Amino acid sequence: MTHILVTGGAGYIGSITVRLLRERGYQVTVIDSLERGFRAALGDAPLIAGDLRDIALLDRVFSSQPIDAVMHFAAYKAVGESVANPLRYFENNLGGTLALLAAMRRAGVRQFVFSSTAAVYGTPDYTPVDEAHPTRPESPYGESKLQVEHMLRWLGHSGDLKAASLRYYNVAGAARDGQMGEASAKSENLIPVVMRAILGSGPALKVYGTDYPTPDGTCIRDYVHVIDLAEAHIKALEFLNLDVGLEVFNLGSGKGVSVLEVLREAERVSGRSVPVEYAERRAGDPVGVWADTRKAASLLGWHAQHGLAEIVESSWQWHSTHPAGYQQ
Ligand SMILES: NC(=O)c1ccc[n+]([C@@H]2O[C@H](COP(=O)([O-])OP(=O)(O)OC[C@H]3O[C@@H](n4cnc5c(N)ncnc54)[C@H](O)[C@@H]3O)[C@@H](O)[C@H]2O)c1
Repeated sequence: MTHILVTGGAGYIGSITVRLLRERGYQVTVIDSLERGFRAALGDAPLIAGDLRDIALLDRVFSSQPIDAVMHFAAYKAVGESVANPLRYFENNLGGTLALLAAMRRAGVRQFVFSSTAAVYGTPDYTPVDEAHPTRPESPYGESKLQVEHMLRWLGHSGDLKAASLRYYNVAGAARDGQMGEASAKSENLIPVVMRAILGSGPALKVYGTDYPTPDGTCIRDYVHVIDLAEAHIKALEFLNLDVGLEVFNLGSGKGVSVLEVLREAERVSGRSVPVEYAERRAGDPVGVWADTRKAASLLGWHAQHGLAEIVESSWQWHSTHPAGYQQ
């Protein structure tokens, strides 16, 4: 049975991927510091609670069990926090990955699936954005992910590593049964913010700018269902059986959705109105961004199967039944 080490597996995307991996017959071991993740999100999946930067711990993990591949979700991900405290982001996102890659090399593990981000592109010159688009991250968070990709490219060249770097767009939605989802009360992503506004556990939704040159005047983004993302990780793992160095893939729905479309969908699904405050445009927000996903379609055989309705329906099911997230 293929044994996968999942870093950050107690977090939002990692935990849902762990569940899918186990359903598909993979053996899984999770390593997570639980600083921003939840033990309860793992059910009975084996967890090693610890930090990736603990080199001795990593060596113990790799020497105590035969790991075939690593899925690396563990990182900090808040753009604003990274601007305020860049070193924290480089220490964790770069330092953690470096420690992990070195431990993999010592253990002879070569297959690596990495959680990257569309933030590596910065404000795009064109949309849909393909993988050949220049990379100009606008935050230490995006920069930390791009630096990891550079490391992976060189390790791929040297023959030490076979890696897929998955550049996620706006990840949203929850598990199909509504029992697992994004639990952080601090999430700044649009859909959790909308859900908290509806449920009264957060402030009114602030819509920044209604005069953009889009059909309804609000910004357009690409939302990809977390279930589709989990599926893409398994396809990436299968892809790594081929003779590859590093390949990067956009993971998005390939469709643009406006802020007001999300808001209306949330009102339809919940049957409630979203408290809204309209505000001025925010500096630096691009008008419209969505992914060109043809590379993932042709090389991984992957495309997003779930649209906005399923994203919002599953999010509503999760947030309305778990207003305080996971019960620890
Ligand atoms: N959620 C998104 O929209 C999105 C978009 C693009 C990329 N990503 C990337 O996907 C990955 C997963 O994101 P998520 O939304 O599940 O985040 P999350 O914060 O829910 O999960 C990250 C997990 O990693 C753990 N972790 C962090 N640093 C660690 C360390 N040094 N050692 C051990 N564990 C550590 C945290 O405790 C947490 O459980 C991240 O790398 C993130 O940058 C997320």
